Amino acid sequence: MSRKKIIAGNWKMNMTPSEAVKLVETLKPLVANDDVDVVFCVPAIDILPVVEAAKGSNIQVGAENMYFEEKGAFTGEISPNMLTDAGVKYVVLGHSERREYFAETSETVNKKMLKAFEHGITPIMCCGETLDQREQGVTMDFIRQQVKVGFQNVTADQAKTAVIAYEPIWAIGTGKTATTEQAQEVCAGIRACIAEIYDEATAAAIRIQYGGSVNAKTAPELFAQADIDGGLVGGASLKPEFGDIVNYNK
Ligand code: G3H
Repeated sequence: MSRKKIIAGNWKMNMTPSEAVKLVETLKPLVANDDVDVVFCVPAIDILPVVEAAKGSNIQVGAENMYFEEKGAFTGEISPNMLTDAGVKYVVLGHSERREYFAETSETVNKKMLKAFEHGITPIMCCGETLDQREQGVTMDFIRQQVKVGFQNVTADQAKTAVIAYEPIWAIGTGKTATTEQAQEVCAGIRACIAEIYDEATAAAIRIQYGGSVNAKTAPELFAQADIDGGLVGGASLKPEFGDIVNYNK
């Protein structure tokens, strides 16, 4: 089955609203590639200006986090309705930085996944091992657990539309991209895990990205792998280089 590639930028905690608009203006012509889904996942305060600045382009807008309740006394959080009303289509959930610094667990990620589907927002669920886990040979056990808990009570039809981002923690922001073989091996393992939870059709439909120091040089080979359906890009998504990553196939 042929899956449309999805290349998403994760801006993390970068770009003021005015800087965000300038960046979108710069990147708009550079990321015009209709063969792939292009998503800019941006800080909450940048969502509205980015949606506005991206109008008329192929850029879709995503959030970097979302809460699992509808509304109420949850100071500082952002609800699914707020995101959809602002024009958000995707949400990054369970990024390793949120797991490490903000006490995100696979259980809270699961609650957010269910809520995102309920509101028609496509989750980009992150998973990935530490260097220690890789060296101990428990990479796949750990990731399978993250995927199994993250997808609890998610239906097969919902799972087919989801995106999973495999991000080895040791490769994030370090300049150390996983080798193509390492990335493909884990992405294939994640697809096999989805087949076990659901069925082959769901595994064939779900999109799995690689993330971790992706750049214009490494993207073409990574994205050519059978089980890698694009990338979740941090640092390089803030530069014109993101255009080359999006146009990896040209
Ligand atoms: O979400 C993106 C990842 O954390 C990768 O970040 O490309 O700066 O390594 P990076």
